[in-house]
Formats: sequence, C-alpha cells, structure tokens
Amino acid sequence: MAQFECTEHMESFLRELPKCEHHVHLEGTLEPSLLFKLAKRNNITLPESFPKSVEECTDRYNRFADLQDFLDHYYIGMSVLITENDFYDLAMDYFAKAHSDGCHHSEVFFDPQGHVERNIDIDTVIQGFHRACKDANSKYGTTNKLIMCLLRHLPAENGLQTIHSASKYYEDGIIHGLGLDSSEKPFPPELFTECYAHIKTNYPGIGLTAHAGEEGDHTFVSTSLDLLQVSRIDHGVNSHQNEELMKRLATQETLLSLCPLSNVKLQVVKDVAELPIAKFFEMNVPFSINSDDPAYFGGYILDNYKAVHTRFGFTMEQWKVIAINGIKGSWCDDDRKQELFELVEVVYKKYAVTIDA
Ligand code: ADE
Ligand code: ZN
Repeated sequence: MAQFECTEHMESFLRELPKCEHHVHLEGTLEPSLLFKLAKRNNITLPESFPKSVEECTDRYNRFADLQDFLDHYYIGMSVLITENDFYDLAMDYFAKAHSDGCHHSEVFFDPQGHVERNIDIDTVIQGFHRACKDANSKYGTTNKLIMCLLRHLPAENGLQTIHSASKYYEDGIIHGLGLDSSEKPFPPELFTECYAHIKTNYPGIGLTAHAGEEGDHTFVSTSLDLLQVSRIDHGVNSHQNEELMKRLATQETLLSLCPLSNVKLQVVKDVAELPIAKFFEMNVPFSINSDDPAYFGGYILDNYKAVHTRFGFTMEQWKVIAINGIKGSWCDDDRKQELFELVEVVYKKYAVTIDA
C-alpha cells in the first residue's frame, strides 16, 4: 500500500535528520539471535510453545493476533535476561542500532516487574541499563533516559512497591520517567492513579507518560491526562475518535509517541496508511515516530520513518516539523534541545538546498 517513493535522497535525509525516540521497550529490542544465545548461556529452557529458532521466531512474530498474543511472547522472551551484563548487552545493541539510524536522543522503557517476579534483583536490571546509557553517551554522543514502566496487569499495590524499590534511582536522577504498559483494555488508567500521584508528589521533576489508546478507545487517553496527569501519551492513535480530545492535545502540546509498524503487527490497523497521521499533522497534534518493540515488529526507528514516508509522502519541511516536535516533547534539558534544533536546521538546509539547486 506504499503510495510514495522513498528516494535514495529522501532516505539519506530521513537517516540524517536528528531523531528522538520516545517509545521503545528495551526488552522489546531482544533480537531472536540474542534471545537464543542468552537462553543457552543462562541455562534457560523456553516453553515448548515458544519458537525454536531465529527463523521460527521471524515467522511467528509476523502473525501476532493482537497485543496480548505479542505480550505472551514478550514475557517469555525476557526470561533469558539474568545478569547485569545481559541487561547491559541488550541495551548497548539497541543504542548502537539507534545511533546508526540517526537517533540522537532516546527515552527508553523498561519493565522491572517482569524481572523481579522472576527473582532478578531490581538493582541488577537498573544498573545494567544505566551503565549502557552512560557508555552509549560516551561512545556515540547520544543522550539516553530511562523510563520505568508499571505493568498494568499487576495490582497497583505491586506498582507502588516497585516505585518504592526504585526510589533511590528516582532521587539520583538515574530514572527520568514513569510509564504504564502491558494489556490495556482490561486495566484502565484509573487503577494507577495513586502510583502516579506518588511520583508527582515526591519527585515533581519526573516525566509522566502512559500507554493509552492503542487498543483502548479515546477515553483511555483522556483519563490518563485527567487522572494520571501525564504530559505525554504512548500510542494515542485512538485519540482521533474524539474531536475535543484532538483539540486538547494540540492546545496542551501533548506529544503522542506513535509506533506505526507496531500498530500493523498487532492488528490495530491493516496498513500504516490507515493511521490518522495526516489528521494529527493537520490538527497540530504533536507526535513522534517510534519503534516500540523493534525485535518483535521487524523495524527500528528509521524503518518506521520510511514506512510513514511511503504512505504519507511528507515534504522535507513537514519532516522538519515532526523532528522539531519530537525534540520539544523530549525530557532533555533546554541546552540539549537547542543543540538538537540546530542540528535539524543543518540537515534540513543540506538536503532541501540540494533539491532546489
Ligand atoms: N509492552 C511492550 N510493548 C507494548 C505495547 N505495544 N503495548 C503495551 N505494552 C507493551
Ligand atoms: Zn509500547
């Protein structure tokens, strides 16, 4: 259903355009090759029902029935992560790929409860991921922030306990945000009001976000804004169902972290062309384009940019607006934002001028 060509020139522009990623689960970057390597290294026996080879994974990952079907594989996949080095290696592989895709700033999710319930110490998880954030910064010059997600299929009390276990990392600035993920529809945002209120009261500088409007309808988005007081919405595709909400997102400049290839793989839409991306753009609802769980959905950030380009045919000027909105909606400091705005301008001038000449 690709309607627009992504020329070599456009592809280089999209690669060089300084991008920010706001929606990627580090556990969702576990490529099948690393998954099987770690399973062997850590003596983990995967369930009989799980694909047995890289090829079988590729095939099965292409046929997820919905979000829950994917999550059932995702939680099994993460069971191979045991040592601090496993978490470090996983994150470093992602940062290397993000860097080669021209991603300059990544705000990455992780799911501590998915590890703690397997008796992995939360410090092992956070220290491995944090070390990778620092090393990626030294090696690639990228900036990277950790967002701790609560699993919405677990009770809110467990979420609150997890927040308490991570308190020193919030205090030390090692974790920058709180998110909410996993099975959406049976577990609406209001269940987690107390968890979000706790963070807002005790760590007022921490960014708040939540998955909403992926499979859930537009009310999940409004409730996340009203009750959880989030400043960003992950996915939010179903916001287009309600005009008032669209206006509110535009006025408040609430960033939606869209994940186009994920929406196709999880049967939210049949093709990227069906996503309301043109409507978001026209109504000034800011959005960024992200990979979600790239190892499971077959595409990293640049693949997602290209998929959007071939369906919507944005001009370089429109892509520049998208990149700028991504920087504005990031949780880095103003100096870093300024640096990124200037880099966008440099790349835009380089490519737009080539076209005009
Ligand atoms: N966890 C990992 N990926 C997710 C997604 N797309 N939606 C909800 N929870 C997730
Ligand atoms: Zn997600």
